[in-house]
Amino acid sequence: MRRIIITGAQGQLGKRLVEQLGQHNEMEAIALDRNALNISDYDAVLMALERWSPDGVINAAAYTAVDQAEDEQELAHAVNAKGPENLARACALKDIDFIHVSTDYVFNGLSTTPYRTTDTPDPIGIYGVTKLAGETAVQKAFLDGESNAKHWVFRVAWLYDAVGKNFLTTMLRLAEKGQPLRVVSDQWASPTAAGPLAGMLIDCMAAPNRLPAAVWHYGTEGPTHWCDFAKAIFELSDLQVDVIPCSSSEYPTKARRPSYSYLDPHPLMTALGRQAVPWKDELEHCLSELNRTKR
Ligand SMILES: NC(=O)c1ccc[n+]([C@@H]2O[C@H](COP(=O)([O-])OP(=O)(O)OC[C@H]3O[C@@H](n4cnc5c(N)ncnc54)[C@H](OP(=O)(O)O)[C@@H]3O)[C@@H](O)[C@H]2O)c1
Repeated sequence: MRRIIITGAQGQLGKRLVEQLGQHNEMEAIALDRNALNISDYDAVLMALERWSPDGVINAAAYTAVDQAEDEQELAHAVNAKGPENLARACALKDIDFIHVSTDYVFNGLSTTPYRTTDTPDPIGIYGVTKLAGETAVQKAFLDGESNAKHWVFRVAWLYDAVGKNFLTTMLRLAEKGQPLRVVSDQWASPTAAGPLAGMLIDCMAAPNRLPAAVWHYGTEGPTHWCDFAKAIFELSDLQVDVIPCSSSEYPTKARRPSYSYLDPHPLMTALGRQAVPWKDELEHCLSELNRTKR
């Protein structure tokens, strides 16, 4: 049995990782939520690794409140930069494989072609700045630690699931009001369901030699914008909702978002011997799962 620590185990991705590892024949999850392990505390991280002796760690913990991060820079940095640094340093020290998850918000969004891992990051908000610092720290820790263990950083965009608080569940909740909805149509990326992402991360931990240690872009075949994503949610749920496209300037937020942050998933998919799934197919699958659990 390969034993895998999941940090941030109560988050959107963390829950999926724990659920899927629970059904795995060759791996088991040590699920650590924020109360069990504060990743910003290096001593606590080291103690957790000593206590559980894991074969791998998947960091699903993060500070994800993009707008609030503008006012809580220190906290965002402690979780998104210091946290992964602590985990990577401790994993490198103890030769434990490590997966870190990052974001499309490390880019400024000015590109007109899919972002590749060779493109230079240039975040336009505190959340992106802290996530980029986390990525860099992870790579440095493994380099400095001269570790035999593997480490990977997977950037993803627009994470959602059938449960929890995310764009999909927000749209379904708002639909109940029966009013027209204005949704921005000038931010482009690819929506990513948490379940398939968790599956890919677990596969990576199960066969660490299959994928070179590197920064990878994971995602669906896309891109789309939020407005079409919303329309697809309603169409696939048989809900009649009037969705009106609007621009980001009509819907101001504290933190700026990249207007285009589609992460090119093809190099990763080729390395894994898979095809990128169209974003709408992944959404349909997620919604059918939701309907099954409702019955
Ligand atoms: N959500 C998205 O749209 C999106 C898009 C791109 C990339 N990502 C990345 O994907 C990953 C997973 O995101 P997610 O949507 O699953 O996030 P999430 O639902 O916000 O979960 C993050 C979890 O981390 C926990 N946490 C916060 N501070 C912590 C600390 N100091 N120590 C340990 N745990 C801590 C949170 O606990 P509390 O709830 O108690 O604070 C929460 O359970 C993150 O790396 C995120 O940056 C997300």
